[in-house]
Amino acid sequence: MDFKLEVGNILSSKIEDIKSEDIISMIEIPPNSDMGDYAFPCFKLAKIFRKSPNQIAQELSSQFEKPDFIEKIENAGGYVNFYINKTLVAKQMIDEVFEKKEDFGKLSIGNGKNVIVEYSSPNIAKPFHIGHIRTTVIGHALYNLYKFLGYNTIGINHLGDYGTQFGKLIVAYKKWGNEEEVKQEPIQSLLKLYIKFHEEVETDPSLDDDAREWFRKLEDKDEEASELWKLFRDVSLEEFSKVYEMLGIKFDSYAGESFYSDKMPKVLDLMEEKGVLVDSQGAKIVDLEEYSMPPALIKKKDGSTLYITRDLAAAIYRKETYDFYKNIYVVGSQQTLHFKQWMKILEVMGYEWAKDCEHVQFGMVSLEEGTLSTRRGRVVFLEDVLNKAIEKTREIISEKNPNLDSVDQVAKQVGVGAVVFQELSNSRIKDYTFSWERTLSFEGETGPYVQYTHARACSLIKKANIEINSDIDFKVLSQNKDAMEVIRVLGTFKSVLIRSAERNEPHHVSRFVLDLSQAFNKFYHDNLILVEDENIKKALLALVEATRIGIKNSLNILGMEAPEKM
Ligand code: ARG
Repeated sequence: MDFKLEVGNILSSKIEDIKSEDIISMIEIPPNSDMGDYAFPCFKLAKIFRKSPNQIAQELSSQFEKPDFIEKIENAGGYVNFYINKTLVAKQMIDEVFEKKEDFGKLSIGNGKNVIVEYSSPNIAKPFHIGHIRTTVIGHALYNLYKFLGYNTIGINHLGDYGTQFGKLIVAYKKWGNEEEVKQEPIQSLLKLYIKFHEEVETDPSLDDDAREWFRKLEDKDEEASELWKLFRDVSLEEFSKVYEMLGIKFDSYAGESFYSDKMPKVLDLMEEKGVLVDSQGAKIVDLEEYSMPPALIKKKDGSTLYITRDLAAAIYRKETYDFYKNIYVVGSQQTLHFKQWMKILEVMGYEWAKDCEHVQFGMVSLEEGTLSTRRGRVVFLEDVLNKAIEKTREIISEKNPNLDSVDQVAKQVGVGAVVFQELSNSRIKDYTFSWERTLSFEGETGPYVQYTHARACSLIKKANIEINSDIDFKVLSQNKDAMEVIRVLGTFKSVLIRSAERNEPHHVSRFVLDLSQAFNKFYHDNLILVEDENIKKALLALVEATRIGIKNSLNILGMEAPEKM
């Protein structure tokens, strides 16, 4: 339970004309718990209602019905003071965590409604670069979050596996490529071919015509074109899978752009029917001037369709197939206009569900100078970033804990986790600069710090070697300020999850798990836990176990592992 929020609710039920957020922000935590656990100052209200603060405090405190978790409410010196029934609150919290365990925090508000989270969606034959890490990591966290809240969640990887660039790639491959090379170093060699094509076309523009011709063949299901396309797609996917494996990601669908190639005619017909298409020099466009947007090109003069046409087809297909409650696209903010355009087109076509499609955007990552060697050219490959994180983590943990037996596994869990947490620790819309030092540090607000806290809790429990359950003396906790702070934070978990999903902002979960870890570490440093007194030891260990569960469940939502040792 989020006490501050609950106290705010009690207050706002009796105070009219002031928004409950404002009331909550006025609530103070008194410096000394003799004055209550939460205090509401009445000075501002006094001005508004033209009464004395004392009078307001007195009136308010006499009006409340006291919920269970509040022991007493008093007024003093213009404040309303709330005293929490700490023993009861501690009991409720610990009981709940022990009962639910890995389901602690789970809700059923999703009620089985279908939510699509489209994320990652790299382009075939192009590197999976650091920019893609954001969509992959944010999307995965949202996917887990919606599942945890009881939605039926469908994760879609809308692969960039179609488009005129495949014509170029086929031309380049036939001229300069070979199968062996492509199979050995897929992305690398395909990228090289792509670059070579663009160099050569400068002096030989006829290559462009060839490329168009090959794309046409691909659209017409020509055998050779289709086989080459399949080769490029297969080898690229195999490479991407390595990254997904490292991150522990599985998609429910890989229906990418090519999946919609045969669904284009239907979409174009629909658009004609609804009268949104306009001829423009042989091409088909949608005029969006009325909505202050540039026109959207839907079909080129040569008959080929575009990225946006495929997005229109995809949205319609998804509505038909999944009847989604929400259809979320985790894609960088550079594509905002594109998403605004096609969503507007659907709206104009009369699809009322267009409003359920949402572009969840994020800012750019830049790299600190010298962050990665440029062994593979100018682009930064996500796989390299993850491998480097693992390597560096291995060095750090072998130094910190030379006796650790599962170094490889832990280095992977912590190295990858560090990169993931770094991605999720800021509001997604912010641009940020990636730094190894910050990402991999065991101190500060990092993944390794949180994972280390989890491992610390595990090791305490192991050392204690007694049965831990919720049958404890709750006074031990209620009389301990540090313990109560841990309980308070744990109590906010559900509201954090709800807010996080409402805003599609996984960083609220990261913030929660940091707060929990910080509260726990303070408790750990200031209290001896493995004491002689069985009564005390048992109670304190129950809190350790509850914290462990809280951290683990949060990390799982974020898409991170929770190592037991490190
Ligand atoms: N493949 C695109 C890229 O890497 C992202 C696709 C985004 N999803 C969509 N439905 N348009 O830039």
